[in-house]
Amino acid sequence: MSFTPADEHAQTPVSSQTPPGPKQFFKSTLAFQRMPLQFLADLVRQYGDISQFRLLTFPVVVINHPDYVQHVLQKKNTNYDKDVFLFNTARTFLGNGLVTAVGGESWRRQRRLMQPAFHRQRIAQMATLMTEATLQLLKHWEKEVEEQRVLNVENEMTRLTLQIVGKALFTMDVSATSDAFGQAYAEVNAALTNYLRFPLIPLTWPTPRGRRYKQAIRTMDEIAYAIIRQRQQSKEERSDLLSLLVQARDEESGEGMSDRQLRDEVMTLLFAGHETSAKALTWTWYLLSQHPDVEQQLHRELDTVLGGRVPTMEDLSALSYTRMVLEESMRLYPPSWQVMRQAIEDDTIGGYHIPAHTIIFWSQYVVHRHPAFWHHPEQFDPLRFSPEEVKKRHPYAYIPFSNGPRVCIGNSFALAEMQLVLATIAQRYRLVMDPDARPVEPVALITLHPSHARMHVQPREIG
Ligand code: HEM
Repeated sequence: MSFTPADEHAQTPVSSQTPPGPKQFFKSTLAFQRMPLQFLADLVRQYGDISQFRLLTFPVVVINHPDYVQHVLQKKNTNYDKDVFLFNTARTFLGNGLVTAVGGESWRRQRRLMQPAFHRQRIAQMATLMTEATLQLLKHWEKEVEEQRVLNVENEMTRLTLQIVGKALFTMDVSATSDAFGQAYAEVNAALTNYLRFPLIPLTWPTPRGRRYKQAIRTMDEIAYAIIRQRQQSKEERSDLLSLLVQARDEESGEGMSDRQLRDEVMTLLFAGHETSAKALTWTWYLLSQHPDVEQQLHRELDTVLGGRVPTMEDLSALSYTRMVLEESMRLYPPSWQVMRQAIEDDTIGGYHIPAHTIIFWSQYVVHRHPAFWHHPEQFDPLRFSPEEVKKRHPYAYIPFSNGPRVCIGNSFALAEMQLVLATIAQRYRLVMDPDARPVEPVALITLHPSHARMHVQPREIG
C-alpha cells in the first residue's frame, strides 16, 4: 500500500477553488442531523478526500486523507484552533479546561502543568486501583450472574471508569455521586448532540431543553466544587493530579488557579477521563461477543500469561493480543468520532483554497475505514495492530486519540486501564448478547455509543 506524502500535496497547484460538495444546505443539514456517519461516509464516497457541505449557514470542509489530517493537527497546527462551534458549545459545560481551551500559550501552560500526572511511572502506580475497582464490580456482578439477569454493559462500564478516574486522578471515591453525575451527563449529552447537529436555538435560551441543560450543569458543578472544596480544606498530603492543580502557581504572578478554572479542569477530567474509555470497553465486549475466534484467542493469551492471576502493570507488554483487540475495536468504533478545527489564516489543503475562519471537520469513524489504508475495512481483525502492520501504516490513518501537540493527554492511562479491565473481566466471564435484543447500531452522540448493550454474564473456566 502506498500513500502520497503530505509535501506532494502541498506542491499541488494552489487553487482559488473551494472543495466540491452538495449545494443544497437544507438537505445536507437534515442528513447530517439524522444520520451523521452515513452522511459523512457518503460525502467521502461521492466527492473524495476533501469536500464541503453547509451546516445551516456554515460552510464545513470535510477532510478524510491522513495527510490532510496530519497537515491540520501537526504540520500547520498553529494555524488551526478550537474556536469552533463543537468546542464553543462544549465550553458551556466544560468551561476552559484542557479539552476546550482554544489553543496558544494558555493551553500550552495548562498542558505543561498536567503532563507529569500522566507519566508512565505515575500510571504504573494506578494499576492496582484500576484492578481493585474492576474486582469490586465483579463482586457486584455475582448476584446478577446467579439470577441470570441481563446487564446494561454500557452503564456498568461507565460506572467503573468514573470510579477509576475519580480514584486515580483525585484520590476520591465518587461512587456515591456517580448516578447523579451520570444522569446529569446524559442530559448534557442529549442537549449538546441535538444542538451540534442543528445549531439553530442556542442552549442558553430558556426553552425546556435549555432549562434541563442548565439544571444538569448545576448538578455537575456541585459535584466538581465538592471535590475541590474537600481538597482545599484537607490537611492530608496527596500527590495526585488534583493536588497538582490546587497547588499550581503562575510563574510570573505567583497566583493559583481560580475556583472557576479548577472547576473547569476537574469537570474536563471527569468527563474526558471516563466517557471515552467506557464506550471503547462497551464496543469491545460487543465485538468479542460477535467474533468467537477472536474471543478464544484472547482467552488463550489471558490463560497463558496470567493463569487466573489478577493482571499487573508488568503483565501489560505480554498481553499484546488484549491490546490489539482494544485498538481494533477503537478503529471500527472510535469513541471520539468527530473533530473540528478553525483555520486562523488562509491556507491550502489538497490544492483547495481554505479561507481564514473555515471550519475543518473529520471523522475518525470514516478515516479509520479509508480503503486505501485498510484492507476490508469493515472486518474486525485485531492482527492489523501487530507491530509489523503498525510500522507500515500512515501515522494519521489511525487516530482514536488524535495526534500532534493536542493528542489525548490520557492515552497511555486509557490503554493501560482498558487492558487491565478487559483482562481482569475476560479471565472470569464471557459477555453474551441477549438473543432477544435488536441488532446493534452505532449512535453518534458526543461520543459513539452502541444503540444498546444488553448482555448476559457467563462464568468461564480458566483453561
Ligand atoms: C479510550 C479513551 C480515550 C479516547 C478515545 C480519547 C480521545 C481523545 C481525543 C480524540 C482527543 C483530542 C480531541 C481534539 O483535540 O479535538 C482527546 C483529548 C484529551 N483527552 Fe482523551 N481520550 C480517551 C481517554 C482519556 C482519559 C482517560 C483522559 C484523562 C484521564 C483524557 C483526557 C483528555 C484531555 C485532557 C484532552 C485534551 C488534551 C489537549 O488538548 O491538550 N482522555 N482525547
